[in-house]
Amino acid sequence: MIDKKKQVNMDELFQKAIDSAESAYAPYSKFRVGAALLSEDGRVFTGCNVENRSYGLTICAERTALFKGVSEGAKCFVALAVSTPDSEKPVAPCGACRQVISEFMPPEAQVRFGGSSSERVDTTIDKLYPFDSLHDLAK
Ligand code: THU
Repeated sequence: MIDKKKQVNMDELFQKAIDSAESAYAPYSKFRVGAALLSEDGRVFTGCNVENRSYGLTICAERTALFKGVSEGAKCFVALAVSTPDSEKPVAPCGACRQVISEFMPPEAQVRFGGSSSERVDTTIDKLYPFDSLHDLAK
């Protein structure tokens, strides 16, 4: 459960996602992505997409941030921001990332994504990854 008394500053988190996209290694797709994850203990983990000449080995920004956080001991995240500066419109996290992220985020966790325009999509994990029947298995 998320502590509702603690207000998440999504503007600040989104700015960190924008900054992280600068580190993207995306010479093949030329599509940079930055992500920022807030853990329940208040730490922020950022990530970018890292591509490879063997295309399938590419890792998305969301999973980079997530794996950084989990490997630093964070196991629950309360908010995610994703920036895609090379698209004008907001681009939602891919299916693989939705599944992996849902393992470590409660259904009510906040998600914001946006591209280079001022348009932002604000949603929650349960909307991004509904019918998550496996969530309870992990308990
Ligand atoms: N990408 C992400 O980093 N996150 C997503 O949710 C969608 C796709 C990356 C992977 C690849 O480097 C590039 O965007 C184009 O698909």
